[in-house]
Amino acid sequence: MRTFRAGVIGCGSVGKVHTECVKQLDGFDMVAYCDIFEENALSLLEQYGGEYATSDIDRFFADDSLDVIYVTTLHDTHAEYSIRALLSGKHVMVEKPLALTAEECVRVGDAVNQSGKKLMAAFKLRFHEMVLKAKELIPNPVMVSMQLMDNRWGDHIWANDPIKGGGNILSQGCHATDILRFVAGGDPVETYATGGHYYQANGLPDNISAVYRFDNGVAGNLIVGDANTPSYTSKFYMQIFAEGKSVTLSDRLTTLTYNAADEEPVVFRSTEAGMLEENKALLQCLQQETEPPVNHIDGLYSTLMIMQAIESLNSRKPEPIRPLIEQLNCR
Ligand SMILES: NC(=O)c1ccc[n+]([C@@H]2O[C@H](COP(=O)([O-])OP(=O)(O)OC[C@H]3O[C@@H](n4cnc5c(N)ncnc54)[C@H](O)[C@@H]3O)[C@@H](O)[C@H]2O)c1
Repeated sequence: MRTFRAGVIGCGSVGKVHTECVKQLDGFDMVAYCDIFEENALSLLEQYGGEYATSDIDRFFADDSLDVIYVTTLHDTHAEYSIRALLSGKHVMVEKPLALTAEECVRVGDAVNQSGKKLMAAFKLRFHEMVLKAKELIPNPVMVSMQLMDNRWGDHIWANDPIKGGGNILSQGCHATDILRFVAGGDPVETYATGGHYYQANGLPDNISAVYRFDNGVAGNLIVGDANTPSYTSKFYMQIFAEGKSVTLSDRLTTLTYNAADEEPVVFRSTEAGMLEENKALLQCLQQETEPPVNHIDGLYSTLMIMQAIESLNSRKPEPIRPLIEQLNCR
């Protein structure tokens, strides 16, 4: 079986984790490293091996020997680099969020369609074993509640920069909206949100509470912020309800407690292996020439679910989501 040759642009902490995952998989090899700071690219080359490290971005995208490019840079370059990779004939794994605006997500989608190449959006929580188990136990929920509550983000980290990162609500909240939609099993029609900007120096919303109405009737509830991680729930916490049963996912979604009426609770546990599993999923779709399990439309929804919640903070009214997706005509 052939080996897919990969390169990574953005050789920081998550570029390193993807490199470690790729290096574990037969059929995949990480051969090229690119970063605006050459020493970051060199550091991964030295640790994991490969063919070259460079800060020459044009050279990297022009390398026709690469099959796949990992985009693990700051958020304001995700769309541009994904588009460049696709249009130069490479498949793409792009870290979350797909892009900072819906329009950029749509441009990425256009490049996917134009190039015929595959793009996978890296939403690792979908690949957590206990999340998949929860979907199996409650395939048709009536209500889903997702909480992503981090400790206070530093005022000056790049992800909190309005241009480079978009702030904590979008940066990490897109994980939460993606998994909320995934578990709800439908598409969000509209959202209403409260909360907003409380203390961050960037002036962006830092803690929000939003409800989503899904087209399959599911009621979704989302809390995202950086006020403080409660030890009881952990940073990632989800509850899923259906008539006569419920699932609670705690310990960063690695512990699942299943309750069914008149039965003793059952507890299942796993580890956080989502990132390795998403890399396996990408390799599988390349080998079998199937569609990626998480694509640009999923990326668009996760970004737009946050953007429209923020819009609702300002308008104090419910804001549409699916009608906007239809208007954007993203395929
Ligand atoms: N899936 C997850 O759980 C998870 C966790 C953390 C971060 N992330 C995502 O991973 C991505 C990277 O985050 P990180 O924590 O590794 O950040 P980081 O700061 O550790 O690394 C970013 C790297 O990109 C390089 N870079 C910056 N601008 C560049 C440019 N224009 N061209 C080329 N290289 C550039 C930097 O020099 C740095 O080496 C972000 O999208 C972030 O949201 C995902």
